[in-house]
Amino acid sequence: MEVPSCQSRSSYDDCKKTADWLLVRTKQRPRVAIICGSGLGALADLIDDKMVFPYQDIPGFPTSTVAGHAGQLVFGKLQDRECVCMEGRFHYYEGYSIHTVTYPVRVFFLLGVETLIVTNAAGGVNGSYNVGDIMVIKDHINLPGFCGQSPLVGHNDDRFGVRFPCMSDAYDRNLRTLAIQTAHEQNCGGFLQEGVYCMVVGPTFETIAESNILQRFGADAVGMSTVPEVVAARQCGLRVLGLSLITNKAVTDYDSNEKANHEEVLATTGLRARDLQRLVRHLVTKI
Ligand SMILES: *[C@@H]1O[C@H](CO)[C@@H](O)[C@H](O)[C@H]1NC(C)=O
Repeated sequence: MEVPSCQSRSSYDDCKKTADWLLVRTKQRPRVAIICGSGLGALADLIDDKMVFPYQDIPGFPTSTVAGHAGQLVFGKLQDRECVCMEGRFHYYEGYSIHTVTYPVRVFFLLGVETLIVTNAAGGVNGSYNVGDIMVIKDHINLPGFCGQSPLVGHNDDRFGVRFPCMSDAYDRNLRTLAIQTAHEQNCGGFLQEGVYCMVVGPTFETIAESNILQRFGADAVGMSTVPEVVAARQCGLRVLGLSLITNKAVTDYDSNEKANHEEVLATTGLRARDLQRLVRHLVTKI
């Protein structure tokens, strides 16, 4: 098993080696990549003509350590659209460097991917959100970035993109519109939201005071992933669509007896994962 390292392992040459290794082993040339969040790996089950690469077999690739994350790259067809699906992602809280967390995104770019769909399980911060809602990510707050943890810190290789990338257009407007349309067609409109995702490092869930801060920051949902991948993807010009499944509600009231826990997160994803999968499956054909 790979020991999470603090060193940057995502130089252009490292990523290129990994991408080239994959390109000689599969004939597929996906234009769409999907990152499956906690409990959402079943999306990969819907893929036909599968070609599966366990992370530990891929040179340069980190390996996954969280329960509920399978840890493999799946190439194949979703409704006849070629795509590559990451079943199991890397979290900063696992001890990986922020550069390692974004390694797969840069590999996707070098594979020729143009669109990235990121999914995650998130806590509802907006008081009107319900457990089981699907949120189209409209924007994000990079809280670790505020504190110096950005995947773009360090030497900038122009082959990935510019030193100071724009983030005001991080979540593609056309893809968001398409996602909302598709959700209504798939009868998911009743539990659809559009909002702001805030990343925290975790692995603790938020204190009550922290949840109150997030609300005041303008966050609608909070989670421990996604933002580094999106930052890296935007730097190298990938279009991004983000979808959060609201699996629990952040506690903002000192009189509440509710407590966030990982089992609840997995149970909720189990219930609504199917809807989210259906949504992504139909969306992919329209991209
Ligand atoms: C919470 O979500 C609702 C419904 O999506 C939205 O109308 C509202 O503006 C959000 N509240 C805040 C404080 O952002």
